[in-house]
Amino acid sequence: MHGPCTRSTIDVSGCTVCPLLKKMGTTTRYLLLLARALVASALLAAAAAATTTEYVRPPPRPIVLTEHTDPATHPQQVHVSAVGARHMRVSWITDDKHAPSVVEYGRVSRNYTASAAGDHTSYRYFLYSSGKIHHVKIGPLEPGTEYYYRCGMAGKEFSLRTPPAALPIELALVGDLGQTEWTASTLAHVSKTDHDMLLVPGDLSYADTQQPLWDTFGRFVQRHASRRPWMVTQGNHEVEAAPLPPVPGSPAPFAAYGARWRMPHEDSGSPSNLYYSFDAAGGAVHVVMLGSYAPFNASSDQYRWLARDLAAVDRHATPWLVVLLHAPWYNTNAAHQGEGEAMRKALERLLFQARVDVVFAGHVHAYERFTRVYDNEANPCGPVYITIGDGGNREGLALDFEKNHKMAPLSVKREASFGHGRLRVVNATAAHWAWHRNDDADSVVGDELWLESLAANASCREHGDPGAVSSRDDEL
Ligand SMILES: *[C@@H]1O[C@H](CO)[C@@H](O)[C@H](O)[C@H]1NC(C)=O
Ligand SMILES: *[C@@H]1O[C@H](CO)[C@@H](O)[C@H](O)[C@H]1NC(C)=O
Ligand SMILES: *[C@@H]1O[C@H](CO)[C@@H](O)[C@H](O)[C@H]1NC(C)=O
Ligand SMILES: *[C@@H]1O[C@H](CO)[C@@H](O)[C@H](O)[C@H]1NC(C)=O
Repeated sequence: MHGPCTRSTIDVSGCTVCPLLKKMGTTTRYLLLLARALVASALLAAAAAATTTEYVRPPPRPIVLTEHTDPATHPQQVHVSAVGARHMRVSWITDDKHAPSVVEYGRVSRNYTASAAGDHTSYRYFLYSSGKIHHVKIGPLEPGTEYYYRCGMAGKEFSLRTPPAALPIELALVGDLGQTEWTASTLAHVSKTDHDMLLVPGDLSYADTQQPLWDTFGRFVQRHASRRPWMVTQGNHEVEAAPLPPVPGSPAPFAAYGARWRMPHEDSGSPSNLYYSFDAAGGAVHVVMLGSYAPFNASSDQYRWLARDLAAVDRHATPWLVVLLHAPWYNTNAAHQGEGEAMRKALERLLFQARVDVVFAGHVHAYERFTRVYDNEANPCGPVYITIGDGGNREGLALDFEKNHKMAPLSVKREASFGHGRLRVVNATAAHWAWHRNDDADSVVGDELWLESLAANASCREHGDPGAVSSRDDEL
């Protein structure tokens, strides 16, 4: 437990400070973080022991710190995201401030027939200064096609596959990732079975202001995030607000997230990287990424943008409407009770009137699926709510369920295990959802169901919202 560090890991339950961390120069703050994690995991363990007999929550596992050992000009933290139907954004970081923001790419390995130049940014967080963060949009690209690419004219070759231009499409979902051994097994399970895109409802690195942990996270996910588009939205761990009162030169909230994880918000008319939408499978699926930590009330930009975005969806052309956000609106866990309530009150009606099919959330570190709900009551024309905040972060799994919660009868399946989900949209009417629990080396289907698109249901097109503005319903 307190022996020398043989691997680049930190054991959160009996810690050894590794040489790598010392190099980061943040040892003291890190120890505080570890002490906090220690107390939290002890509390979690005590709670789990007190309340369960048959089911044992898997304990948290050590953090994995991934180093960059290649030259400073070589790309690291490579990840890709979809921009419109025919383009991809390639993002990476170099320690070298002179490395060019250029991507060479083509359909044959090492024979690049095209190249694109982009832009770069960087940010400071008190004493931390980021590397050069490159963002390059490549394309037009063929759908469902493998491309080989190289970043900044240096280092190794990567490959990616563009998403398909029509159904079927397979979307993998994982929330509250972190960078622990559990995260590694979750991502290994995601990659073992093919998928077209990965959607993250927030909480990526768990850097929690320790900026070098954003870099280790970027390296940790590179193997997966460089191959398939990763479409993310923010969680509370992305905020990283500077301590109050703000001192001159304090970093803005989302400084790291905004610089590193640029999403295609302009393409959906969103003024903020904190919320946006995109089409998948040639427009058969419209995915809306909401910002739980951006203003959302009726006079906010997010509200106005969402109303516009949903009104522009033609459900004949787009039978599937999927929403992601971080703090769940429905949750029967003791953890984070009520934290999504203000946002639910502000936005639930918009989603219901648009007949959103399914809403995915993270934040609560457990799996939970509700039946179709609107305004705290079962409603066959409301979205299915699914919490998937169990990617593998260092905080461990959620506290016990509140059996007396008023929503408990509408909660269909709940389990505090790590894992990931898959939404396979088969055609205009049917999609298959499956939650894959991590059983160590295996991934086991712990919950599954077939969903029917609400756009395909004549009864939901006409009824379901007695108080709704009728002109809105007529459009659907
Ligand atoms: C590289 O690609 C070009 C264009 O597709 C082709 O003409 C050429 O033969 C390829 N070269 C090699 C070595 O594969
Ligand atoms: C919306 O939130 C802003 C602050 O974000 C506040 O000033 C305003 O009064 C709020 N409006 C409503 C209608 O709640
Ligand atoms: C859609 O897929 C489901 C599940 O495979 C199938 O039962 C159904 O017949 C399909 N519908 C159409 C219109 O192809
Ligand atoms: C459509 O919605 C209605 C409720 O509005 C529900 O009873 C029905 O099961 C749904 N599915 C089909 C195939 O009609």
